[in-house]
Order: sequence, then C-alpha cells, then structure tokens
Amino acid sequence: MALLPLLLAACCSLLFTIASPARDITSTACASQISDFPHRNSSGLHLTLHHPQSPCSPAPLPSDLPFSTVLTHDDARVAHLASRLAATDNNNNAPSSRARRPTSLQNKKQAADSLASVPLMPGMSIGVGNYVTQLGLGTPATTYAMVVDTGSSLTWLQCSPCLVSCHRQAGTLYDPSASSTYASVPCSASQCGELQAATLNPSACSASNVCVYQASYGDSSFSVGYLSKDTVSFGSTRFPDFYYGCGQDNEGLFGRSAGLIGLARNKLSLLSQLAPALGGDAFSYCLPTSASTGYLSIGSSYSPGQYSYTPMASSSLDASLYFVGLSGMSVAGAPLAVSPSEYSSLPTIIDSGTVITRLPTAVYTALSKAVAAAMSGTQRAPAYSILDTCFDGQASQLRVPAVAMAFAGGASLKLATRNVLIDVDDSTTCLAFAPTDSTAIIGNTQQQTFSVVYDVAQSRIGFAAGGCS
Ligand SMILES: *[C@@H]1O[C@H](CO)[C@@H](O)[C@H](O)[C@H]1NC(C)=O
Repeated sequence: MALLPLLLAACCSLLFTIASPARDITSTACASQISDFPHRNSSGLHLTLHHPQSPCSPAPLPSDLPFSTVLTHDDARVAHLASRLAATDNNNNAPSSRARRPTSLQNKKQAADSLASVPLMPGMSIGVGNYVTQLGLGTPATTYAMVVDTGSSLTWLQCSPCLVSCHRQAGTLYDPSASSTYASVPCSASQCGELQAATLNPSACSASNVCVYQASYGDSSFSVGYLSKDTVSFGSTRFPDFYYGCGQDNEGLFGRSAGLIGLARNKLSLLSQLAPALGGDAFSYCLPTSASTGYLSIGSSYSPGQYSYTPMASSSLDASLYFVGLSGMSVAGAPLAVSPSEYSSLPTIIDSGTVITRLPTAVYTALSKAVAAAMSGTQRAPAYSILDTCFDGQASQLRVPAVAMAFAGGASLKLATRNVLIDVDDSTTCLAFAPTDSTAIIGNTQQQTFSVVYDVAQSRIGFAAGGCS
C-alpha cells in the first residue's frame, strides 16, 4: 500500500516540473511510409498503433532500454493484475468502504484545492509494454501521444499546471485553460461515482467541489488529478463531453507519452464513451512489431468473417478485464503432455499491455519441454530474468516448431516464430512464455501481428492472422 501525501495546491504549485516540448532524436529513423493519420468511415474510427519501441512512435522508448527492464516492469504489471483479481472479493463484501471519502480533505480548510490523501491499491507499471497512439483533446485541439491499455478504464493525461509532478513528455502539455470546451466535473456527477469501479480506488472531492480521481498502476506508477470533460478528437472527428482525468501528479509513466487511453470494460472507458456515436461496443487492433505499423479501430462494423471467435467471459473477480478460456496448446502439431483440465485451472485474461504470456505452471512446464525437445539441435543459453527456456541465436535464424493456442469455442492462434521466441539480446532468444500460479494472461508478444477484435456487444473475442502492415 502506498500512501499519497496530502497535496496542497498552495504549497506545491512552486514545485511542479515543467514538461519539455523537446523530443529525443532516436538513433533509428522511422522508415514507415504509412501516414499516422486517424480517420473515420462507415465502419468506425481508425487509429495508427505503434510498438512502444518503434522509431515511428510519437513517444518511443529509448532504443537501448535493456530487455531485462521491460521484463521487470512486465512482472510488476502481472502482479498488479493478479492482485486485482485476488482483492476484489473483499471489496464486494464491504460496499461502505467504496464510498469512503478521505476525511483529511473534508476537515482541513487549508486544503483549499487539494488533491487526495488516501491509500492506493498496489498498481501496475504502465508504458513499457503498452502500445502508443495519438489523441486530440480540447478546442482548439492539440494532439498527444498516449499509451493504449485494455487493462484499465480511465483515460487521463498530464495536465497543466502539474500541481505536483509531470514527467517530460513528447509535445506540449495539455492546458485546460487554453481549451474553450474544458470543464471540471463536480463531485455530485454520476461519473465521479463511477470512478471506484473504473480505477479501483475511491474518488475524492476537492474543497472547491471538483471530483478527484486516483489511478494507480504499481511500481509506484500512478496519476492523480481532476476528473474533467472536454472534446476529444481523432483527426477531424470530434466527440464532445469526453470524461477523462486531468493529471496533476503523474509518476511512473515510462517513456514520453502524455497519458493513457483506457479500453477496459467500464462505463468510463473510451470504448464505452465513444460506442454510442460509433454504432456499437467493439474495438479491434493489430499490435505491430517494432518494425511494422498496427491499428486500433473502434466501432462495431468490423469484417466478422475473417475471425475465429471465443466467448468473452466475464468474472466477478474484476468485471472490467477481458477473460477468455484457454482450452489447449500444441507444439509441432502434437498436444502438450498435460491434462486438459490444467488449461482452465486459473482465470485467464487477454491483455494488450502484458509482454510475456503467463500460463498455469503445469501447462508452461509441458510447453517448455516440448519446445526444447523440438529444438534439441540448438545450443541452450542460460535463463534470462523470468524466461527460463533460452537458446543461442536470434529467433529469425532458428528453426522453431509451430506452436498453437486453442480457445473455448474453437478460436485459435497459430503462432509465428516471432510470437514464440523473443530476442533478449544480440545473441540470445527465449521462449516468450512464463509460468504463473495466480492469473493466466494472454500477452502481447503472442498477439503481435494478429487482428484481435473485442466485441463487447456480442460478448466475443476474435483472432485473425495478418492484421498489421
Ligand atoms: C474504413 O477504413 C479502414 C481502415 O483504413 C478500412 O480497412 C476499411 O475497409 C474502411 N471501411 C469502409 C467501409 O470503407
């Protein structure tokens, strides 16, 4: 449990850090010819999606970021997702604690426009594994680099005057006073009441009656600020009265993104807010490699024929996450040597921001053995961080067996080499899976270059090969 200090506007406005408009010149140039241009047509809204380390990203991570750092953050994210599934039961039994407001805000007159002082849930690390797109906000609109996250609901971005803290971001900082359509949201608004479900932290109320949100992501990553509404835009398509967080204390967001777009299943998520205007509760994406370009499409008229589907399961453990049923795996066409019941022995979510897929330990052990046996002609390398099945060489140069994942209802992911092995340095590649005893997660290395549709309205998730360009 982290405890946020009481944040006083009066004291802290002198301390805010200035977001720099400067951008790193990355060593690898962006070679993509695809214009990063959002557009809307009859099938919905279409945005460009970038790998977090792509030189074409509007806020690329440093190209020399050690992969071990990525894995450390990945483990923190997984621990946070697992803790949410473990903790929500207690919250359900104590509804009164959800409505609790931090008394320090109500009692202290001098906290004239303070933010919050409440314990936060352990959170997750954001930005390292999350893909990046652009979003416009305000009137006139300014464009911001934002990470996209299916594991959280509230959209927020760093917000002037950064009462407590903003990190350096690519491009200019959002300034609500420069937007003619900005409004803060009062504590009595229904959207303020929805924050508990959206952020899993209680909302707070400033002395000037503005609703305060607290989004936490672990590894001490969090954003705290004012719940606000403004016009959100993608290219020339504008949506008025979009609810989001105007972040005054933003810590732990990795890289130079301005904030986060939440796509989890909750009323405050961007998906739910835009769905009525876009004709339905569905989105699809292709998560690209660092050398390709992907997309995020929002709207229900995707081409349904190309996908194989699995039911979108929900769980009382956390209603905002996307659960699926893993039903089997094979290596070189042979089912793993594990009891079929092991595949469903843990709750399984699909997540855009987890890098390495986590499997129930028995399934992982059988997968590791089968892949190692199929690659017995390749020199083994020592374990690397959380990855214990490693080989000398680079994935693209090795003979790798076909690996397939099957889901309830018949959907399957026939993984390509890049979805099976991940290069951890210049001379080592590892099986991009890890064992877990708490929550199984279908991560983004395995989803890369597939089209994945999340059809909330029809409660199904679909996979199709070959979605990125
Ligand atoms: C809309 O745009 C997307 C993305 O460019 C494209 O794939 C799709 O075919 C278009 N749909 C229609 C109906 O024009």
